[in-house]
Amino acid sequence: MMSEWMIETKGLSKKFRNFTPVDQLQLHVREGEVYGFLGPNGAGKTTTIRMLLGLIRPSSGSIHIFDRELSRYRSHILSQVGAMVESPSYYGHLTGRENLKLTCTLLRIPEAEVDRVLDIVRLSRAQHKLARTYSLGMKQRLGIAQALLGQPKLLILDEPTNGLDPAGIQEIRELIVQMPREHGITVFISSHILKEIELVANRVGIIHTGRLLFEGEMSELREQGHPFIRLHAEPVQQTIDYLHTWGYPVEAVDHGMNIKADPAEASVINRRLIMNHVDVSHLSIGGRSLEDVFLEMTKGADSL
Ligand SMILES: Nc1ncnc2c1ncn2[C@@H]1O[C@H](COP(=O)(O)OP(=O)(O)OP(=O)(O)O)[C@@H](O)[C@H]1O
Ligand SMILES: [Mg+2]
Repeated sequence: MMSEWMIETKGLSKKFRNFTPVDQLQLHVREGEVYGFLGPNGAGKTTTIRMLLGLIRPSSGSIHIFDRELSRYRSHILSQVGAMVESPSYYGHLTGRENLKLTCTLLRIPEAEVDRVLDIVRLSRAQHKLARTYSLGMKQRLGIAQALLGQPKLLILDEPTNGLDPAGIQEIRELIVQMPREHGITVFISSHILKEIELVANRVGIIHTGRLLFEGEMSELREQGHPFIRLHAEPVQQTIDYLHTWGYPVEAVDHGMNIKADPAEASVINRRLIMNHVDVSHLSIGGRSLEDVFLEMTKGADSL
């Protein structure tokens, strides 16, 4: 029977002498999602990813990818996994296209793949330029193109936006979110920046000093801050009735009411109230922000 998970680790650990950078990780990555692997510097992200890619051996625990144990089906599994770890590798004296062609030859992949991946990462126009003349963002995209050769089902990216400017980050972000939708590729992406993960991932695993502190939907993480929407509106009772009818839990407090809802709903609620002739005089977000929740969780990290 197929399990629900594309990647599943049980008790995954890595020990170096007396130091344990990865400690008893239970990761669960679902097919078709963008999974954000979030943790401060030194948390153990790259070490974990190296184990997922069979580059280093776990000290204990197991890794299943596509329902098969990695240690037993290594080459079969890895032939369907594309990856970029830490920084892209390429030859600067070759063009982008030549780099990709070389990988095709090495991996015995049809050369037609080159055009396909160049198109996906939007490097078709720059394909004949030497890779060393590429901007940082273009180099990063070339790295992702390399990872996409051979049509992997799973893409593992270790901090792909590291060092990029906002425009470069935006480009990578757009690339990543379209992977499941347009190419049927599941993405596992690491970052130390909450915002990065928040904008692309639907599920998240938070790692800190080698331990998994949280795993779940992005919305579940947000809920840990107990967010609410504070509203001042007239007439009060009518407003409360409307909100109840629309399915929002609401309680009257001094000078207003608190709606227990995702802050992202605030504008929708506002619009509906106004359309129903309610006078809204104040609307704000209460509770702890996602940043607060994350900082609280990883508090005490030396690197923060
Ligand atoms: N070969 C090794 N021998 C000893 N310690 C190591 C080795 N590789 C990594 N470490 C240590 O393991 C810890 C986790 O490192 P890792 O690179 O996995 O963290 P990371 O989450 O990827 O951090 P960053 O955000 O800085 O990339 C660090 O303290 C690092 O120094
Ligand atoms: Mg790292």
